[in-house]
Amino acid sequence: MDTENKEAWGSRIGLVLAMAGNAVGLGNFLRFPAQAMQNGGGAFIIPYLVCFVLMGLPLLYVEWAMGRFGGKNGSHSTPFMFGSMGRSFLWKYVGVMGLFISVGICSYYTYIEAWTISWAYHSAMGHFMGMSQEQVAAFFSTFIGLGTPEPVLIWIACVALNTWILSRGLQGGVEVAAKIGMPLLLLFGIVLAVRGATMSAGHHGALYSGVLGLNYLWTPNFTSIWDPVVWRNAAGQIFFTLSLGMGSIHCYASYVKSKDDIALNAMSAGWMNEFVEVVLGSAIIIPIAVGYLGVDKVVEMTKGGSGFGIGFMTLPYLFTQWGPLLSALSGIMWFGLLFFAGITSSLAMGTPVMAFLEDHFGWKRRSGALAFGLAVLALGVPSVLSQEAFNEFDYWAGTIALVVFSLAEIILFAWVFGMEKGWKEITDGSDMKVPVAFKYIIKYVTPVFLLVVFVGSMPEIWATLTKKITTHVAVARLLMVSLFGGITWLVYLANKRRATL
Ligand code: TRP
Repeated sequence: MDTENKEAWGSRIGLVLAMAGNAVGLGNFLRFPAQAMQNGGGAFIIPYLVCFVLMGLPLLYVEWAMGRFGGKNGSHSTPFMFGSMGRSFLWKYVGVMGLFISVGICSYYTYIEAWTISWAYHSAMGHFMGMSQEQVAAFFSTFIGLGTPEPVLIWIACVALNTWILSRGLQGGVEVAAKIGMPLLLLFGIVLAVRGATMSAGHHGALYSGVLGLNYLWTPNFTSIWDPVVWRNAAGQIFFTLSLGMGSIHCYASYVKSKDDIALNAMSAGWMNEFVEVVLGSAIIIPIAVGYLGVDKVVEMTKGGSGFGIGFMTLPYLFTQWGPLLSALSGIMWFGLLFFAGITSSLAMGTPVMAFLEDHFGWKRRSGALAFGLAVLALGVPSVLSQEAFNEFDYWAGTIALVVFSLAEIILFAWVFGMEKGWKEITDGSDMKVPVAFKYIIKYVTPVFLLVVFVGSMPEIWATLTKKITTHVAVARLLMVSLFGGITWLVYLANKRRATL
């Protein structure tokens, strides 16, 4: 192997920031508030927190451990990582999902990243001043409906930027982006959250104080305990936000040294993500939007889809109520924050793909990055052209596949590889004591829980599959199936190459 391909993290803080950057994304600031509103506010929070403890934390340990284990054997992406942990040759093919999900999500995720750049620009230029909320929403619809070439051009630039940063490698690219992006994101997030939470009724035209939205979210409400869809959505959000079940944590973790701590690192990055999500993520959109529009209107706006759009349709208008200067500043902070959140995550989606091409086909970093960029552009076209296709990608690659992948990996880890060996992998070199309870949670509770969530959402999956579909949805599905097939074929080739080397 040539030295250019010998990647490693530069420092512990760089690794933790990169991992936190991986996890902290558009999911924290856009998807979480929308999911919470859509699923009943306080009724969502209980399943959400239970899922964090029973699935989020255990899976963090598992994925970090699998990653470091894979790295020791020279595999930085899930197919051969899984292959080296299970006896059956089939595990390699289960690992295909780890590449499929990253590329699948990245195809529409970079498109939202592009929106954030445009919206920061329009805010800075004061273009939203004087518009009504309906006009801002209409402006957004024209924008994503391709009434102008702007989103497409910026999207292409955005993918190019991702590709360029990736081509600079972990230390020179990803780590630098995280070290710049994360502190700025925290700063902007804290300023906006304080502003949101302390907003008072009657001031700047707000109908209600910021506390109304916060109360809606944080007043526990047990009505949802028996609703499998709310549980599926809470589980889905935990996966999405922690970047679990995607193959991306495995990849980052595979670049730590074989005796380095993973337990404490996993917890630092994971808890940092939860802080950003439940504290900052819930204190911006929700109090501000609810303060001006009321709970019902906001719930109404988050119906259908994953709710990535709401931050673009409401906040710029609400900011304009604060006067030209504050509105421009808030817009730059809010969309700038989203941009940093987004790019540090989309970089994480690219690394497994590059690692796969480098490890198994001997590609150079640059060619790997370029291949990834081109794949994202090709797969993103349907999502750019149609909201339906976009939602389809988010549903299969961004929601369902994560649950299936996690279920498979936890069975592999706890039952095939074996929990005794697995526990050793988790605790080896660890700088903190991992509570022994997790040994049992990982072995019994998490798999059963995942299975129940999966089985519980079967009816919904079935209904989605049997529903009459439009051409856009059909194209999106066809592309996803081809992507999956293509990666499977590459894994097959890589395996043959290995055998003959
Ligand atoms: N966790 C990110 C968010 O909250 C999304 C994400 C990060 C992701 N890394 C990923 C999605 C890798 C797929 C693959 O927005």
